[in-house]
Formats: sequence, structure tokens, C-alpha cells
Amino acid sequence: MPDLDTTLDIEDDEGKPTRRDFFVQAGVAACAVAAAGSGIVTLDYLKPKVLFEPPTTFVAGSPLDYSDGVVRFYKDNKAFVIGGPTGVYALSAVCTHLGCITRYKSDEKAIACPCHGSRYDLEGNVTHGPAPRPLPWLDITEDAAGNLVVDTGIVIARGKVFRP
Ligand code: FES
Repeated sequence: MPDLDTTLDIEDDEGKPTRRDFFVQAGVAACAVAAAGSGIVTLDYLKPKVLFEPPTTFVAGSPLDYSDGVVRFYKDNKAFVIGGPTGVYALSAVCTHLGCITRYKSDEKAIACPCHGSRYDLEGNVTHGPAPRPLPWLDITEDAAGNLVVDTGIVIARGKVFRP
């Protein structure tokens, strides 16, 4: 009885990979790529989606630095801290029209928006439109060292000044 080769794997005479080997390797590679892709998606799904925002509070120095008429602009925090006749208060520097950042005009003792020309007095009241609302007043507290801490995330009643 003749000796029959029962395998389906057919190699050529020079021992090169067969077409079957090629398809097996291509299938393994495709499965590896698919597994890696699903692993990356799964890890991304499991990673917490937390949005880290900068703190809303900042230290604005000693209350003694704010005598009547002193205006300090905190650009990074988009706020003004102002010394008034009865105490210190903070205003948001974000224009109530379309959100541009306002600037203090010391020569005019006014707050002006560079975008569309709105103007505010030093208490945040609109003196020239198109701003529809006054600038919000921001919460001020005092830390353990006696420095002012302004919270841009808390709007307080207008006219509520901080008295050291
Ligand atoms: S954004 Fe300030 S006036 Fe328009």
C-alpha cells in the first residue's frame, strides 16, 4: 500500500511558507490588531472622565493694600479687586455683553470693554452699552494669614463690601 500524505499543508520543494501559512499568519495578525484595538478602547472607557478646572479662588493680598481708589486687575482670574470708601470689593472682569475681558481705564476711572465699547463705573454699573447688565460682584473672604481670598465662582449681592 502506498504511503499517502494526509495533511493538507503543501510545501513547495524549497521549504518556503505555503499559501496556507500566509493566511494563518494574516489571520493571527488581524486578531492581534483587533484585540489591541478593543483593549485600548476598554482602557479608555475605564479611565475616569474628570475635567480638571483651575481653582476659582485666588489670593489678592492684604486688605491694607486697597485704600480708597486702588484698582487691581487680576488678568489670570478675570477679576478686579477695588478699594472703596467703606471697604474692599471684587468685580468680575468679564463683560456682560458677549464675554470679552474688560480693562481698567485709570485716566477715566472706568472699566471699559475693548470689543464693542461697553463701559462700567467702578461699582460695575453700566454707563454705556451694549452691555445689558452690571458686572457681578464676587465673594471676598480672609484667609488665616489675613489676606483677601476672592472666589470668582461665587456672585454676591451688589454693595456688600469686605471690611477688614
Ligand atoms: S463683549 Fe463687551 S461690549 Fe461686547
